[in-house]
Amino acid sequence: MKYTQGMLRQDALKGKTILITGGGTGLGRSMAEYFLELEANLVISSRRLDVLKETAKQLQEKYGGKVLPLACDVREIDQVEKMFQLAIAEFGAVDAVVNNAAGNFISPTERLSANAFHTVIDIVLKGTVNMTMTAGKHWIGIKQPGVFLNIVTTYAWTGSAYVVPSASAKAGVLAMTRSLAVEWAKYNIRSNAIAPGPFPTEGAWSRLLPADLANKFDPAKKIPLKRVGEHQELANLAAYLISDFSAYVNGEVITIDGGEWLKGAGEFNHLEQVPDELWDQLANMRKKKS
Ligand code: COA
Repeated sequence: MKYTQGMLRQDALKGKTILITGGGTGLGRSMAEYFLELEANLVISSRRLDVLKETAKQLQEKYGGKVLPLACDVREIDQVEKMFQLAIAEFGAVDAVVNNAAGNFISPTERLSANAFHTVIDIVLKGTVNMTMTAGKHWIGIKQPGVFLNIVTTYAWTGSAYVVPSASAKAGVLAMTRSLAVEWAKYNIRSNAIAPGPFPTEGAWSRLLPADLANKFDPAKKIPLKRVGEHQELANLAAYLISDFSAYVNGEVITIDGGEWLKGAGEFNHLEQVPDELWDQLANMRKKKS
């Protein structure tokens, strides 16, 4: 067994319909792929219908099953409601929503225009609110159980310089996840989140870290496990949190980052720079003194 392999039994998501925003590319696509392999029906959405259609075609060819691609800008409540209705018309129900669509600009905050700041807040926070309110009201109205899985980030609780709109929005998503986990538990609606560390994707990585920067700041170097994440690892965790195997997990945010964020937190973590010889010298000095 290896962490690059699928973890759950073949029929773990059989009969469930899962809607994934930002499901045409990157991590959204990787999660979608594994959900389909586990026999779920899928709705994938983003603003680019051509990309979604191509993804849907490729995934269906590989695994069979049904993937419905729907164009939707999550910032627009009308589009979100319409998408949700189309998904129900196709599959009869939506059982789980993965709020994965995101936008981010790496920049000194004072260089951002007001509109740039609002754009990220609108996609990440308002988009998640739109999706959550639409699905939640529907599920409550017809007394159907549901599952939310929100993709946040480890800086949702620490904050982070140079990605302030994203940090602010993700913090809001995390607060909403925990709040609704309690408030909507009585309707049998669970809300959980995943906080991924670095998982390379073509889109976000090339856009967020242009070539030069990416070479300078190799993310693997600052991770205690000295590697970046494999998409399958994230897909395994996401599938578990969507599945009934996690029926008692509610209001949790699970970090999957190789220990990255904690490394920045522990006061003495930088001592990993100390070579073995120096530890030996220090030990010898102690022994001589005693
Ligand atoms: N840095 C700073 N500001 C930026 C920017 C960047 N890299 N790119 C765009 N902006 C600003 C624009 O100048 C504009 O502000 P202005 O009107 O004051 O000039 C504002 O942000 C909106 O830009 P626009 O391109 O009109 O937004 P959009 O709604 O069409 O698209 C995104 C926004 C985020 C979807 C788009 O930029 C995108 O696809 N980004 C990459 C996706 C991404 O970030 N993925 C990572 C996921 S973590």
